[in-house]
Amino acid sequence: MKVLMVCLGNICRSPLAEGILQSKVIQHKLDWQVDSAGTSNYHSGEAPHELSQKVALHYGVDITQQVCRQFAKVDILKFDKIYVMDKSNYKEVERIAGILWDATKVDLLLNELYPKENREVPDPWGGTEKDFQNVYQMIEKACDKIILKYTSN
Ligand code: 4NP
Repeated sequence: MKVLMVCLGNICRSPLAEGILQSKVIQHKLDWQVDSAGTSNYHSGEAPHELSQKVALHYGVDITQQVCRQFAKVDILKFDKIYVMDKSNYKEVERIAGILWDATKVDLLLNELYPKENREVPDPWGGTEKDFQNVYQMIEKACDKIILKYTSN
């Protein structure tokens, strides 16, 4: 199973999602690949946001070595499942994927917790540590659900 987490900057939300899911994959000894990307190139090559790093480390998840990259068309082929944080990310992934677009692979992350409700993980960019903590909690619950979904049969 190859999972890609996507947000706008690949600097706040999707690095957390990658780190959280990756840590659960290791705990459950799963043979999965987890990665993340942003629909923009605003922060390509940078480390995750300082507050994403700090909040993750608080929960024992080290994302300090991650490097931001932009979502590319071929990611649609390379990954089995692509989770986006908000509806704008979804539209951008669809636009970038172009003729390779495959709706069966792409979904809002929170639809794992609240199916078909199309809830969004709010963008904490410019927010406080509490905003980043709130985002961490939401993403963690969704990642628990993903692990359960693919390991309970
Ligand atoms: P992210 O947050 O999509 O969760 O990484 C953002 C990061 C940077 C910007 C916007 C959102 N920006 O405009 O630079």
